[in-house]
Amino acid sequence: MNIYLIGMMGSGKSTVGKLLAKKMKMPFVDLDHYIEVKNNKSISDIFKENGESHFRILESKALRHMEDFTVIVACSGGIVLSEENRKFLNASGKVVMLQASLNELANRLHNAIDRPLLQNKERVQELTKIWNKRKDHYLSTAHLSVDADQTPEAVSSQIIQQIQS
Ligand code: S3P
Repeated sequence: MNIYLIGMMGSGKSTVGKLLAKKMKMPFVDLDHYIEVKNNKSISDIFKENGESHFRILESKALRHMEDFTVIVACSGGIVLSEENRKFLNASGKVVMLQASLNELANRLHNAIDRPLLQNKERVQELTKIWNKRKDHYLSTAHLSVDADQTPEAVSSQIIQQIQS
């Protein structure tokens, strides 16, 4: 069974995913990285040259490929924007939401230059807008949710505990 980590940019999906994969002895896939390798282009360049809507198509295609494996997947933050993706995730694995506070996300993403959706320095404002648009989707897609303000070690331990209980 696949484990899908969902949540906002900066919630720690990739870091926690790697740790979780090590602890659970499962392979790990970072969906953004998978898209970059498949398309031989960085996420920033895909946004710049092909636009967000094209990125969303590549994102959905990449997600479908995960069905061919048994893996832990760190999904890209916007994966829940599509209803098809939400249905797919919910039906094809265990979906874990990493829920971090907006202040914590803003701190972690303070200097990030590789997130095309964060364009100005008003991080909390930008993230609040994105969160308000997505929160219901994250919550309705996830089978379980973990407080992601904690350390990656604590988050991964909690996920394992919750999956096993
Ligand atoms: C996005 C999140 C990013 C990346 C792209 C768009 C989003 O992934 O896919 O910048 O829409 O939230 P991470 O969540 O891994 O940062």
